[in-house]
Amino acid sequence: MKIVVIQGPNLNMLGIREQNVYGPMKLEDIHAQMKAFADKNKLEIEFFQSNLEGEIVDRIQECIGDADGIIINPAAYTHTSIAIRDAIAAVQLPTLEVHLSNIHQREEFRHKSLTAPVCAGQIVGMGPFGYHLAMVGMTQILSEVAAMKQAQQQAQAKQK
Ligand code: DQA
Repeated sequence: MKIVVIQGPNLNMLGIREQNVYGPMKLEDIHAQMKAFADKNKLEIEFFQSNLEGEIVDRIQECIGDADGIIINPAAYTHTSIAIRDAIAAVQLPTLEVHLSNIHQREEFRHKSLTAPVCAGQIVGMGPFGYHLAMVGMTQILSEVAAMKQAQQQAQAKQK
């Protein structure tokens, strides 16, 4: 099972940007923690960060046939990008949205997520720990999907 983690614009600046909002942790340290969790749970994991909307759309599309689930923080594009929303909807893979900060507590333009309605769930306001929660959540979703597929196969085999 493979999870692709997609990070939007300015998240490469974690540890430098607005530490009062996002904390001191760097993106590479968050990814190291996610990788450790993935290794422990025998999951494959791949990380991608881009400041460009089209590159994020491309990476989501590339998940077809390559990934079983997506964890995404679309960052500022959360609030503006119909293209990223459509890409998530198109690939039909379980997707969890993460935000370090509580977007509902901040400026009004951050309250609306265009991407959340096409995601399985949204985790906000938990800082870097939110990515760990997303890993736990995705592990659960993937095991439920695997169990459902197995049950379907067994039912089909019985019909033959
Ligand atoms: C963010 C919240 C967004 O509103 C903001 O533009 C970001 C980071 C978060 O993780 O809290 O860049 O997605």
